[in-house]
Amino acid sequence: MPFQKDFMWGGAVAANQCEGAWDVDGRGPAQTDMMTGGTAKQHRMLTYRMPDGTTGAVPKFQSIPEGARLAVLDGYHYPNHLGVDFFHRYQEDIALFAQMGFKIFRMSISWSRIFPKGIETEPNRKGLDFYRRVFEECRKYGIEPLVTMHHFDTPLYLEEELGGWKNREIIAHFDRYVKTILEEYKGLVKYWLTFNEINNTLMFLDLFGNTATQEQYQGAYQHLHHEFVASAHAVKMAHEIDPNYVVGCMICGLANYPMTCDPDDILASRYQWEKGVLYCGDVQCKGKYPTYAKRLWDAHGVKLDITEQDLQDLREGCVDMYTFSYYMSALVTTHDVEKNAGGNFSVGAKNEYLQYSEWGWAFDPKGLRYYLEMMYDRYEKPMMVVENGLGSVDTLEDDHTVHDSYRIDYLRAHIKEMEIAIEHGVDLIAYTTWGCIDLVSAGTGEMRKRYGFIYVDLDDEGKGTLDRYPKDSFYWYKKVIASNGADLD
Ligand code: BG6
Repeated sequence: MPFQKDFMWGGAVAANQCEGAWDVDGRGPAQTDMMTGGTAKQHRMLTYRMPDGTTGAVPKFQSIPEGARLAVLDGYHYPNHLGVDFFHRYQEDIALFAQMGFKIFRMSISWSRIFPKGIETEPNRKGLDFYRRVFEECRKYGIEPLVTMHHFDTPLYLEEELGGWKNREIIAHFDRYVKTILEEYKGLVKYWLTFNEINNTLMFLDLFGNTATQEQYQGAYQHLHHEFVASAHAVKMAHEIDPNYVVGCMICGLANYPMTCDPDDILASRYQWEKGVLYCGDVQCKGKYPTYAKRLWDAHGVKLDITEQDLQDLREGCVDMYTFSYYMSALVTTHDVEKNAGGNFSVGAKNEYLQYSEWGWAFDPKGLRYYLEMMYDRYEKPMMVVENGLGSVDTLEDDHTVHDSYRIDYLRAHIKEMEIAIEHGVDLIAYTTWGCIDLVSAGTGEMRKRYGFIYVDLDDEGKGTLDRYPKDSFYWYKKVIASNGADLD
């Protein structure tokens, strides 16, 4: 049996995509609350208001005009405001997870529920109490919470007034938030993740092709440096507050392959690994910048503000485990080919050996084995796959069933590759599939792009009963968990 006896099977969500209740009980807004819905072809928009009262919207990857403030405007739909109403339905949802036999449930805390602007000295008690109730509910069923401290939702105030993570001052605000939650949930939570898909900040620049400016690179690397330091502080505080705490990094695990055997492609692929994936994992796992960091910075004239104290903090704040999301792989080439494959922060050529989803995400289970084996060999730390799954359109039948055999096929293929990686020596301790209950897509804001074992009756316009219905995959995953991965049929 490849999976260890206490292997933790479960699922994952993020606060901003499932909770809703965006302005309830004193919660402050985050940028995700100012984003409209989009589609695979049409970007989500950020809406804003100018000082003279005029309003407008820009694609989410663009900056709003000088002097504008993000704002919620009439006539737009903001899917994260409702999410799937987990805030009010968490008991029903966790009961369904328990029915599947979940051992672990990955979720995140919305920072602005605890510190609405991010700058307050005292936390919002109602926000703290909400998560306490959620963790207690998990514990009632013997489900271990796995908690992400930051999943795409910095309080808006800090983004607008401080310039977000580009400003060193934000670290102190994050430290206060982290200390608060680590002290508050001692004994209720054991596993923590610092920043979700921390490497996205760099991958995001690739979405511009070669057009990202020196200023954008400078900003992205400095932003990341501040997150690294904040993450190291979080690890140190966690160990001081409770020696039982286990803290991980969380990397967007985008595997890549060279498209041809041209040595230039081989090098380009390796450099993409370094820039896109390894840079962040290396700093967080090894506690220092890798040798190739200078090459990456020099390529864009980046000069970082790094203090001696920062370097010491990084050394002392290495994470205990390596966790990552895995959905797909990408091809890297220096050749002039059509870059027509895109998905989850990647652009690249299509791989003729793979199939692609409607959203352009490649189906590549072997890429997961490749990734697991490579990273375990590099870091030798326990690993968790904390996101994996298939975003697809599901049909709710008249009898409220959903026949999602395609999702079962996807997950089965990936679990088989995890099995092989474990047989090859990887210390994999948990698997949490993404969006175990349908939720708002981070990339497109859609509801129709569903990942869940549980169908939520809600559409892209925010209409629906919000009722929950188990899909075929729900019963399948229940069997997988009950047999500890032995029964995948
Ligand atoms: C990861 C994120 O990038 O991918 C999640 O951590 C996200 O927040 C997931 O939802 C799937 O992406 P999408 O765009 O399909 O929601």
